[in-house]
Amino acid sequence: MARVAIVTGGTRGIGEAISVGLKDAGYKVAAVYAGNDERARDFTERTGIAAYKWDVSQFDGCRDGVARVEADLGPVEVLVNNAGITRDSVMHRMTFEQWNEVIQTNLTSCFNMCRTVIDGMRERNFGRIVNIGSINGQAGQYGQVNYAAAKSGIHGFTKALAQEGAAKGITVNAIAPGYIDTDMVRAVPANVLEKIVARIPVGRLGRADEIARGVLFLVGDDAGFVTGSTLSINGGQHMY
Ligand code: CAA
Repeated sequence: MARVAIVTGGTRGIGEAISVGLKDAGYKVAAVYAGNDERARDFTERTGIAAYKWDVSQFDGCRDGVARVEADLGPVEVLVNNAGITRDSVMHRMTFEQWNEVIQTNLTSCFNMCRTVIDGMRERNFGRIVNIGSINGQAGQYGQVNYAAAKSGIHGFTKALAQEGAAKGITVNAIAPGYIDTDMVRAVPANVLEKIVARIPVGRLGRADEIARGVLFLVGDDAGFVTGSTLSINGGQHMY
């Protein structure tokens, strides 16, 4: 039986590549998105993957959304917490809203989603959770106190939940992408991005499918001994 996978932020960017990679590998995939209906419709038309709309920063929305996915596809066995936003600003100009939106969407969402699926995974003695962190959660980044805190939180969250899940066949791992060629990175001012790319030993931005490849490794049935780890995929920009 094909395993059911949820990918948050799954219709665009890195999430899109993960959704497609999982589908191509035989998983039944639900791609979650928050707001961009047009992109989601286009994504479903191109890929044949069902898109579900809910706000992962809201606990009740996650509970109701997962129930819809489970009614349509079956119990969720694979969860990829990928949804993320940036609200870049230096601290002395950052508003509480910029701080809070990033923490809620990038970090609280991991609690909301994991808390919702964990009971079923424990009952079935199987689960694969992959949280998408960031190089900027490992190394920090000028203008990203909010994002770096949320992503760094994801790395701690991963290691704690990995310890809890281990005896129940649930693995929990993180991937820390570097700068990947997506809308999010293209929004960085060109002069800033140029300097960042100059510091990547591989000499280019990463591709979203290069992150999906890592996810596929971590969610495999044969990856049961890999848990609590962080896979850095960053072109050598930060070796950690
Ligand atoms: N280190 C040191 N100084 C820096 C700096 C850096 N990395 N970046 C900017 N500065 C300095 C500038 O040189 C400038 O100094 P002067 O005024 O003395 O010239 C000062 O900070 C202000 O710079 P800006 O004109 O850019 O100021 P701003 O307020 O308009 O913007 C910023 C500041 C929001 C931080 C902007 O520079 C920015 O967006 N930077 C990119 C941040 C970034 O890398 N975000 C990653 C997004 S992608 C992502 O997050 C995905 C992932 O996981 C990797």
